[in-house]
Amino acid sequence: MPRPIAIAPSILSADFGRLGEEIRAITAAGADLIHVDVMDGHFVPNLTIGPMIVEVVRRNTSLPLDVHLMIANADAYLDDYAAAGADILAVHAEACPHLHRTVQRIRDLGKKPCVVLNPATPTDAVEHVLDMLSMVLVMSVNPGFGGQKFIPGALPKLSALRDRVAALGLDVALEVDGGVKVDNVDRVAAAGADVIVSGSGIFHTPDYAATIAALRERATAAQY
Ligand code: DX5
Ligand code: ZN
Repeated sequence: MPRPIAIAPSILSADFGRLGEEIRAITAAGADLIHVDVMDGHFVPNLTIGPMIVEVVRRNTSLPLDVHLMIANADAYLDDYAAAGADILAVHAEACPHLHRTVQRIRDLGKKPCVVLNPATPTDAVEHVLDMLSMVLVMSVNPGFGGQKFIPGALPKLSALRDRVAALGLDVALEVDGGVKVDNVDRVAAAGADVIVSGSGIFHTPDYAATIAALRERATAAQY
């Protein structure tokens, strides 16, 4: 039995001038969690938000916050993002030389650890921490910006991870992030993704509730 599809709107494409309102709207529209993209201008070529803004998001929704840390020195900031209200802390395998220690620290903080893989990073990078994780995030764009084109190489990686998680009998969710919209969500769900991040694919549409419903419906119909 596949796990229920969860839709995680990425607020990177929201209107930051009305952030509180956007968070409340996306919550009312049926989102399952809120995906928050943290960029440091170093690990990725863009700068976004710090713990202060995560606190603002926290105050405007009761949904779990999925905080995607695209930062070079994640270890130094885990406590701050945990205190700001993160529920899931997602760190990049490429940015964490002591990944096992980082994941353990997230667990010790009482948060759910997720490890993120860039498009060029093989799934082997999570093999030796897989049993410690709540989720693996497979990037389907090179991180740094919203609105990029989906990279299909993510699909076999999702399937390989789905098979590996099943073979080991683990309870690890599989998330996909980048270029996912209503017209291709069936492909990622068929490959094994059960947590669907979509930024421009939701926030650049006029009716958030209708878009989230369509994403959920298409993804659920395509699940293995
Ligand atoms: C990219 C971010 C994504 C981004 C997705 O670096 O990690 O979460 O906001 O945006 P879309 O869905 O527009 O590709
Ligand atoms: Zn993201």
